[in-house]
Amino acid sequence: MILIVGGAGYIGSHVNKELNKRGYETVIFDNLSYGHEDFVKWGNFERVDLEDVERLRELFCKYPIDAVMHFAAFTYVGESVEDPQKYYLNNLKNTLNLLQVMLEFDVKYFVFSSTCATYGNPLKIPITEDHPQNPINPYGKAKLMVEKVLEDYSLAYGLKYVALRYFNAAGADADGEIGELHDPETHLIPLILDAASGKREDIKIFGTDYDTPDGTCIRDYVHVTDLADAHIKALEYLKNGGESDFFNLGNGNGFSVREVIETARKITGKNIKAVEDRRRPGDPPVLVGSSDKARRILKWEPKYDDLSKIVETAWKWHEKL
Ligand code: UFG
Repeated sequence: MILIVGGAGYIGSHVNKELNKRGYETVIFDNLSYGHEDFVKWGNFERVDLEDVERLRELFCKYPIDAVMHFAAFTYVGESVEDPQKYYLNNLKNTLNLLQVMLEFDVKYFVFSSTCATYGNPLKIPITEDHPQNPINPYGKAKLMVEKVLEDYSLAYGLKYVALRYFNAAGADADGEIGELHDPETHLIPLILDAASGKREDIKIFGTDYDTPDGTCIRDYVHVTDLADAHIKALEYLKNGGESDFFNLGNGNGFSVREVIETARKITGKNIKAVEDRRRPGDPPVLVGSSDKARRILKWEPKYDDLSKIVETAWKWHEKL
């Protein structure tokens, strides 16, 4: 049975659906602080906080867990600068609790949600896995610290892990059963779709004077179902004897904020009002990743390889909200 920690959240719920579709048994641990109970449509569910090590032990007794995927983390970069303790306690310390109980129960397979934020400001594009890691905020630093812990635990205790460094997760389940729902929402695509559906008046473009072709930031958007597929491939890779490793997950194509807005106008048929605003502190101008390593070693092949397909699924979900 696969344990999905944070399986009531955006990415974890898509992985849970995909695992169940492929015949895996799953159990979700989620404290529902940001997750949604109605995203738990498959497998078993336990409401539990990673702070509670004793309860984790009970649950590891209750379920025959043989691998763990860990999605439970706070993800607001700006908040991590204002309140770093919140991020180190949850994203780092609580992950150590989880690993502690895994080791006690001799569970050796671990797939970890890491992030392109571990690279900091890119020195070259596309970013490959050997790019220096100099995160510029506590969110990225805590994720990098976990990566370092995993390296040590793997050497000392034989833990087998894959850390997946996502670029910009986007889109929603093609059947419209689950999707992206954050409170507060800060991500570009859902905010654009809020403007399309009239929930917001407009979308603010954070910075139009970047050194990019149209002056706005460029990001590499990767579909959440493609991310889910990569997690399962990573797990199978480990179970087949693959070495612990790190992989980028992105499409390798960059789209500017203006291009994303234009794509959303085409898909929704709505006249989305865009307002030029100041830069948001901490945004690198361009983040585009090379996922050649994941393609080569995990045989990962993203299906949603163009932005329109990604925005289409996001819109289908958004219209139901
Ligand atoms: N943006 C706007 N207007 C908005 C919201 C965002 O112009 O209202 C811009 C941002 O400035 C950025 C781009 O749209 O240039 C994408 O912003 P998101 O907030 O959607 O995503 P980020 O690239 O900031 O964040 C993502 C992940 C984080 C991760 C980070 C790594 O969501 O979890 O990449 O840099 F940490």
